[in-house]
Amino acid sequence: MIQPDRNSVAAALTAVRERTLELIAGLSEDALSRQHDSLMSPINWDIGHIGAFEDLWLVRSLGTASSEAELDDAYDAFKTPRSERSELDLLDGPFLLSRLEDVRKQALSLLETVEFDPENQLLRDGFAYEMVVLHEAQHQETILQTISLMTSEPYEPVTRWERPRANGVRAGEMVLVPAGSCHIGAAPAGFAYDNERPLHTADVDSFEIGRFPVTNGEYLEFMAAGGYEDRQLWTDDGWKWKEQASLSAPMYWEPKDGVEVTTSVEEATRVARELGLEGWQRRTSLGVEQLNASVPVVHVCCHEAEAYARFASGRLPTEAEWEKAASWDPDSESPRTYPWGEDPQPDGRANLDQLNFGPVPIGAYPAGRSAVGCEQMLGDVWEWTASTLIGYPGFRPFPYREYSEVFFGPEYRVLRGSSWATRPRVSRNSFRNWDYPIRRQIFSGVRLVRNA
Ligand code: AVJ
Ligand code: FE
Repeated sequence: MIQPDRNSVAAALTAVRERTLELIAGLSEDALSRQHDSLMSPINWDIGHIGAFEDLWLVRSLGTASSEAELDDAYDAFKTPRSERSELDLLDGPFLLSRLEDVRKQALSLLETVEFDPENQLLRDGFAYEMVVLHEAQHQETILQTISLMTSEPYEPVTRWERPRANGVRAGEMVLVPAGSCHIGAAPAGFAYDNERPLHTADVDSFEIGRFPVTNGEYLEFMAAGGYEDRQLWTDDGWKWKEQASLSAPMYWEPKDGVEVTTSVEEATRVARELGLEGWQRRTSLGVEQLNASVPVVHVCCHEAEAYARFASGRLPTEAEWEKAASWDPDSESPRTYPWGEDPQPDGRANLDQLNFGPVPIGAYPAGRSAVGCEQMLGDVWEWTASTLIGYPGFRPFPYREYSEVFFGPEYRVLRGSSWATRPRVSRNSFRNWDYPIRRQIFSGVRLVRNA
């Protein structure tokens, strides 16, 4: 949460911009302006959109006219749908970067005299500034999804961390969460999105939940058992989609040597059964990687997550179950902002902040465990839930309906936690992400629940 003093607001704006520029530093103009996949915008659209959002909330909403209204429309997600974005003749990289600087100069100059007026909901506690910082941070994760899809050139990151190693914990362990009521949502103080409010209580029955996310090794057992061929394991919608899209393994898994990349379900099952993880590799933005049995499975859609869960005699958590397991402290009978407590610092507690460029083995962050004993609830992979996106009782849209309210309804599934590609500032127990249940270019995985 931003301290509403001018220096720390300016520092947060500068820091988030540095990472945006670092992520795209090694990309050619072609890679930036090309549409790599029909699911994603050209990266330069994200860049233009980051600037337009800042212009809207930190320049125009503070009472100053836009110098570039036409540009702001082009980079408004609702005025220019995804399918039109690669045709914009506004994708010139150097121009967009100078536009970003220009908007930033105006925003910083207005910041010098702004009053963080507690009567003004947009400025109280620096809300609009935190929102703009988080918006840019969220688009960094989007940009990383696009970079993962890019095949036109290799990606060379400026900074890359050494990933922690496996430490010998066993996959599949469950922890018990006793029945009882708990708090759901963000506390009234501090920054939160409208969809995290209002804070309310929920009665949750007892359940068991995975101490860790489901791993590649566990997921391979599902594949080797013929999980992709077993109609019983899939919902009606899931089976229909699996057939239509010819799913046979998580996205980016490729059988090694000789076997065709778009392999049939039968062939994928045979490779899983006969060769195990040795038979597969995973394509990532940094190149092809060996599959590690202890690393959380990533790039599965909600239908695959549900089929896996049924195979493992379980199901996906509801949002309330997930949040209770992450945040509820039964001793103090109060919720925590992060699984480990109130300190926002994730070092040694969660695989966040992008520079591991992938999920890391289970057991790598014992210090990040929640009160009930769940690990890696934040970071590594977003976790699909059984819940569709709806407003909490008493929901009020703020500051704009298009952040979340327009997405309420049965077509979106909520994902909880956060991924290796999420900035720590965005990541907290009450955060709600959502997407279509067929999506798997996002950094999505599974955590199992069983009734208890
Ligand atoms: C919350 C991740 C679903 O990327 O569509 C970015 C975040 N909102 N710009 C998205 C968002 C406006 C949003 N998700
Ligand atoms: Fe956006």
